[in-house]
Amino acid sequence: MSASAGKIAVVTGAAQGIGRAIALRLAADGADIALLDLDGPAVRSVAQEIETLGRRALPLETDMLDRAAIAGAFATIASTLGPADILVNNVGQSARERAAPFWEARAETADFLLRICLHTAMDASREAVPAMRSRNTGRIINISSDSAFVGSKSSAAYAAAKAGLIGFTRSLSRELAGNRITVNAIAPGYIRTRAMELLPAAFVHKAIEETPLGMLGEPSDIAHAVAFFASDAARYVTGQTLIVNGGRWMN
Ligand SMILES: NC(=O)c1ccc[n+]([C@@H]2O[C@H](COP(=O)([O-])OP(=O)(O)OC[C@H]3O[C@@H](n4cnc5c(N)ncnc54)[C@H](O)[C@@H]3O)[C@@H](O)[C@H]2O)c1
Repeated sequence: MSASAGKIAVVTGAAQGIGRAIALRLAADGADIALLDLDGPAVRSVAQEIETLGRRALPLETDMLDRAAIAGAFATIASTLGPADILVNNVGQSARERAAPFWEARAETADFLLRICLHTAMDASREAVPAMRSRNTGRIINISSDSAFVGSKSSAAYAAAKAGLIGFTRSLSRELAGNRITVNAIAPGYIRTRAMELLPAAFVHKAIEETPLGMLGEPSDIAHAVAFFASDAARYVTGQTLIVNGGRWMN
């Protein structure tokens, strides 16, 4: 039997990059997928890819910065697919175009980064947890960043938000352990996504040089780690952060 057969998974920021790879991987493992993303056409296109794998897909054009919209999306998921067994809090961004030393960066940029990288995970978890608790089952997987460990010279707020996500993961894992719900995090390093493709070649070259394995990661590298945490094989693993970064930072 496939690792996530018959499960309902919710993936945020699922229209492209890492979120898309996670959604496709969980579908390949047998889950039906709700995909939440701001980009309606792109998220509907990923849903079509999932349907060709023989799974149900529910694309929901949702602004994850809007709590009422998140609540509405979860209500639609429950009535259409059923309650979520797996929640992957993937949405987030580093706002690299606004990168600056902390003392020069705008306070509004820090507010935005904390909201998009940390509050979205809390808001989606708040919606998903009650049905998980009532059924004493569930998997929550938060996509952090190795910036939480390495730090970021040009986006302290991003690193702070991603470190906050690890604190949230550990706390929620303790609160939900009695319900047999696991909560884990993944901290990617440099992964080849749209954001990376927009960066200057010199930045990408330096990123590869800093990485012991000497290459960028692929979105599928993160999806494999998510598939493990979502599977029964990870039933005794909770509160952990798996760093998937080619060795750039070692715990
Ligand atoms: N790519 C990397 O190198 C890297 C490294 C470390 C951590 N991460 C983390 O991995 C996650 C995914 O990164 P990615 O590179 O695949 O990102 P991406 O920019 O390629 O994709 C992000 C997705 O989120 C969606 N989105 C953005 N704002 C939204 C909003 N308000 N509401 C709903 N959807 C919204 C976008 O439409 C897009 O589909 C993020 O949390 C990111 O911080 C990425």
